[in-house]
Amino acid sequence: MPERALEMKERTLLLIKPDGVDRRLVGIILARIERKGYHIVAMRMEKIDFETAEKHYAVHRNEPFYDKLIKYITSGRLVAAVVSGEGCIGGLRYIMGGTDPLEAAPGTIRGDYATNVTMNLVHGSDTPEAAEREIALFFPDLPE
Ligand code: RTP
Ligand code: MG
Repeated sequence: MPERALEMKERTLLLIKPDGVDRRLVGIILARIERKGYHIVAMRMEKIDFETAEKHYAVHRNEPFYDKLIKYITSGRLVAAVVSGEGCIGGLRYIMGGTDPLEAAPGTIRGDYATNVTMNLVHGSDTPEAAEREIALFFPDLPE
């Protein structure tokens, strides 16, 4: 891991969701994030179980889209990564674009590559607290 990445305190959790893996967009998505100047400091590909999905999206458990979301996020392998860099929590979400790809700005990942509000390719933590919780869920052994 580069020394510079270790010195950067802000970290966030990126998921390239199962549609991103199926559509072979992993390379393009990671390239956009690296090109911005962020570091990938940990990464794994896996199919997550229901328990992990429910913990990750616990905040949405009362939403009407919850069941569909859990089914989707557990439907195939995803890429989980810890991204590090200056302002990366907000910065990654800016690169991702808005939740609904039909409203996401052109030039963003969702705006350029997706059309469906469920299958919107990527996840990024939305607050420092969420980032630490989500990183601990996916990478429990990662040093602080
Ligand atoms: P994420 O947590 O995955 O980064 O996405 P987000 O912050 O942009 O959106 P959020 O409101 O947290 O929703 C989590 C994921 O649930 C699915 N979703 N479906 N109306 C719907 O059918 C609907 N709304 C949200 C999306 O996969 C969204 O990313
Ligand atoms: Mg969210």
